[in-house]
Amino acid sequence: MPKLLMAIASLNVPPSVPRSRITGVAGRIFVAGAVTATMAVVGTAASAAPARTMPATMKANITRDLFGTLDDGTKVWRYTITNRHIRTRILTYGGIVQTIEVPDRRGHFTNVALGFATLADYVANNNPGPYFGALIGRYANRIAKGTFTLDGVTYHLPINNDPNSLHGGIDSFDKKVWTPTPGKNHDGDPTLRLDLTSPDGDQGYPGTLHATATYTVTGDSIRIDYRATTDKATIVNLTNHSYFNLAGEGTGDIYGHLMQINANRTTPVDSTLIPTGQIVPVAGTPLDFTKPVAIGDRIRDNFEQLVFGRGYDHNWVLNGSGFRLAARVTEPTSGRVLSMFTDQPGIQFYSGNFLDGTLYGTSGHQYRQGDGFALETQHFPDSPNHPNFPSTVLRPGNTFQTSTVYTFGTTH
Ligand code: GLA
Repeated sequence: MPKLLMAIASLNVPPSVPRSRITGVAGRIFVAGAVTATMAVVGTAASAAPARTMPATMKANITRDLFGTLDDGTKVWRYTITNRHIRTRILTYGGIVQTIEVPDRRGHFTNVALGFATLADYVANNNPGPYFGALIGRYANRIAKGTFTLDGVTYHLPINNDPNSLHGGIDSFDKKVWTPTPGKNHDGDPTLRLDLTSPDGDQGYPGTLHATATYTVTGDSIRIDYRATTDKATIVNLTNHSYFNLAGEGTGDIYGHLMQINANRTTPVDSTLIPTGQIVPVAGTPLDFTKPVAIGDRIRDNFEQLVFGRGYDHNWVLNGSGFRLAARVTEPTSGRVLSMFTDQPGIQFYSGNFLDGTLYGTSGHQYRQGDGFALETQHFPDSPNHPNFPSTVLRPGNTFQTSTVYTFGTTH
């Protein structure tokens, strides 16, 4: 069994479960089909006709269709990766995960990821905006006043979230068209590798950065492996900004979802959502998700951190180290359960506080505050300005590497 699957199995499955069943859970039982290119109508409704169940004989496969064309003539492709458990669509624009269709406890497939139906929507509304499904770089979350100093040189980043720099600046990774390479891994699972070269000085960041994100659909999981190298000392913090509603995208708020975060501590923020530098226990506060609690239970408490965030918009300091469980979310009605695993030190739980009813999602429904949650595996926000936080410096000769796995299951 590959190391990663072993890690998942060891976290999820009691030791008494026979190895053969673990393999079944983590999935290596499907053979990837040929990589085919199929042209389809631009802007096809992403959530159309979800299957009730996928046939047991179905082979995992990856196909593509033309999602749209940018004003400068660049084509944006949409890759659809399907196996028996999951169908997901990924765009070369921003590496955006547009949809994720997974079954509920009765086997009904629904899209559980928030997003838009068309490329024009993403271009116009995703940044500034919610960053639905996007790859975030070069630096996830905020850098105070858009300034940091590295090796004695002070760098200035765009202020796009006054007074701070958010999610890599204005023309950030979520807006770039990445170079796709579809394929399969050694287990035959379909993969999509996206590559991007960000030139020295891009959005104020030093060094030419080569970044790669590889999406793998394996059994009931989507895995994203990130890698980056540089030719000059720089900082990097890559993540994905998918929002979920496990009852189905566009079906209302997520306040009834039960959230569990594997973290005893958090990094409190000031009123501009920049960490103060402290690392404090969550025990006894509305940020304590060490046991499953409904997201809505305490979200309107008169607690300063919730006031600053207008809800949850904080970094949790994950317990332990290495690849481990970060969070588990259960939606009681559908029974869907999302478990997330990462090797990163932190996770941002954002409860969709800035969704304000002005945007309409993939299935045409309005998104209001709290209609989706994001869980962004990451280094802590503003780390370059906090020497006590784990370092985000990347130097030539080293490789930035991180992996996040999203596992979709159900409860009874
Ligand atoms: C992150 C931030 C939020 C918000 C969202 C995108 O989660 O912490 O404050 O900017 O991204 O809307």
